[in-house]
Amino acid sequence: MSDQVKLIRKDLKKLKPAPNLLDYEKVYKEFTWEKAEEELIDFFDDGKLNISYNCIDRHAKGKNKDKVAFLFEGARGEKETYSFGDLKTLTDKFANVLVNQGVTKGDRVFLFLPSIPERYVAFFGTLKTGAIAGTLFAAFQEIALRDRLADSEAKVVITNAVLYPRIEKIRKDLPHLEKVIIVERGSIEQPRGAGLVFYNKEMEKSSSEFEIVHMDKDEYSYMLYTSGTTGKPKGVMHVHGDVLQAMVTTKYVLDLHEDDIYWCTADLGWVTGVVYAALGPWGLGVTQVLFEGRFSPENWYTVLQNYKVTVWYSAPTAIRLLMGSPVSPKNYDLSSLRFLASVGEPLNPEAIWWALEKFGLPFHDTWWQTEQGAITIPNYAVMDIKPGSMGKPLPGIVAAIIDDEGHELGDEQEGNLALLASSVSSMMKAIWKNEEKYNSYFMGKWYISGDRAMRDKDGYYWFIGRADDVINTSGERVGPFEVESALVEYPDVVEAGVIGKPDMVRGEIIKAFVVVKEGVAQTDELKEKLQQHVKKHLAGHAYPREIEFIDKLPKTRSGKIMRRILKAKELGLPIGDTSTLEDY
Ligand code: PRX
Repeated sequence: MSDQVKLIRKDLKKLKPAPNLLDYEKVYKEFTWEKAEEELIDFFDDGKLNISYNCIDRHAKGKNKDKVAFLFEGARGEKETYSFGDLKTLTDKFANVLVNQGVTKGDRVFLFLPSIPERYVAFFGTLKTGAIAGTLFAAFQEIALRDRLADSEAKVVITNAVLYPRIEKIRKDLPHLEKVIIVERGSIEQPRGAGLVFYNKEMEKSSSEFEIVHMDKDEYSYMLYTSGTTGKPKGVMHVHGDVLQAMVTTKYVLDLHEDDIYWCTADLGWVTGVVYAALGPWGLGVTQVLFEGRFSPENWYTVLQNYKVTVWYSAPTAIRLLMGSPVSPKNYDLSSLRFLASVGEPLNPEAIWWALEKFGLPFHDTWWQTEQGAITIPNYAVMDIKPGSMGKPLPGIVAAIIDDEGHELGDEQEGNLALLASSVSSMMKAIWKNEEKYNSYFMGKWYISGDRAMRDKDGYYWFIGRADDVINTSGERVGPFEVESALVEYPDVVEAGVIGKPDMVRGEIIKAFVVVKEGVAQTDELKEKLQQHVKKHLAGHAYPREIEFIDKLPKTRSGKIMRRILKAKELGLPIGDTSTLEDY
């Protein structure tokens, strides 16, 4: 495949400003994490650090005090601007709010909010106290919330009046949850009840000076739940030292410069939002845009135009939706754009060619995972692009394609995409309370990504697919088990098998095969009810867009659902090895 692709050539002379990474081969050879750390991170005198100090306080204490950190546009069109100085005051205050509520180092503090500035204040304020910040996607419903908040034994949740009822419903199942902080933005009536604390009142009362907690590089900072093939979502643990790779990649890959206006469209509920709409850009002291409004081509082009965005980091599904829309970017003045990047799912070559035609710029695909904590295999401003390829390993990172026994494979051979574990500075440090799961990611010196890929003879990596049943719908990772569990909670359902079905726009959609109780009518109305059930109880984005009733699920003799057989049947592919299959 790699021989036939048409290259997008880069001309260094035409790139303005000159990229931060000028010579990939040279930097790759000379790079060390120690040198990068010396250049980019500020430590306290005792050799410790804090992400929030590096992303906020040091800018507020220096020449960037009045520099704009945030250009916020709310869902109702309200506009607000925050400087690094403002953020320092607010996060200090919020850290005091938490301490006043009894939060101490190591406690889990979860944010369940829409994309509003208070979410960022709460995130960085939490890190200042040494507590562990967890973020939750606002589309989560009670099952998803209960799984995460119960497993993490969260002590505090910060939410708002609209989202709070979902927490209220499950509060009885969360014995560790002591306080719920309600952010009052907008005029909606506020909830009442025991254990509720109101953000505005507490912020007003609390001091704007906080003694930031000094953390070791490998002490926990934030946690995010991710889905695998089996079981409930797992808590991936990151540490304060992980800000280094976030910054290195924001500099070398997203190529942020001091004067950029940067927009990462990812939500703080997912890893891309945490690392690239918070840690990386603010680590470098760059101005970013936060847009709370909904996705629509008009909305997004207007944001790009009005804020004069220069660097834009987005995702394939959104790009494909833009491509398919009758609204042309050519109707907007997008001349400020200079660098585009994408993450989360395979970026199809057509999307890159489309961008080149419409914006005069290609999207740069970047590959990584929640567990890795930052970009590991990307394309670079300075490097020719092979559309369809994820690019080459970041300086500092060693990647390989290995077989199932851990042997390295040569170029042009398909295998497991692996990273030398010790080379990934921001690699997760644990899975919360689940050492066995953590250990299962590693084979000798290798971290196994769960993705299948191949490397061509020029050193470019090409994504082939997942090695397991994990679904990637619109760039969001969904575990089939979670959806199956939600479906079987519906009284008419006996069992369910869930797969990702290829989709032109969303990459994959969730498809469920459902066995219903005897005598239950297999109607479209029931399908609709099942979809609503999953939307309402698990999460708005994780419901099956397609449902098929089936008499029996293919299972191994030990009773495990064989999703690959459901998938092969769905796609009309050979079923493969069925030796472990029970009679079907
Ligand atoms: O399958 C890969 C896909 O998304 C998975 C990681 O999902 P998550 O941990 O939610 O992180 C998403 C954002 C970093 C990977 O195992 N994936 C991510 N980026 C790409 C990708 N697949 C193909 N190309 C990519 N650029």
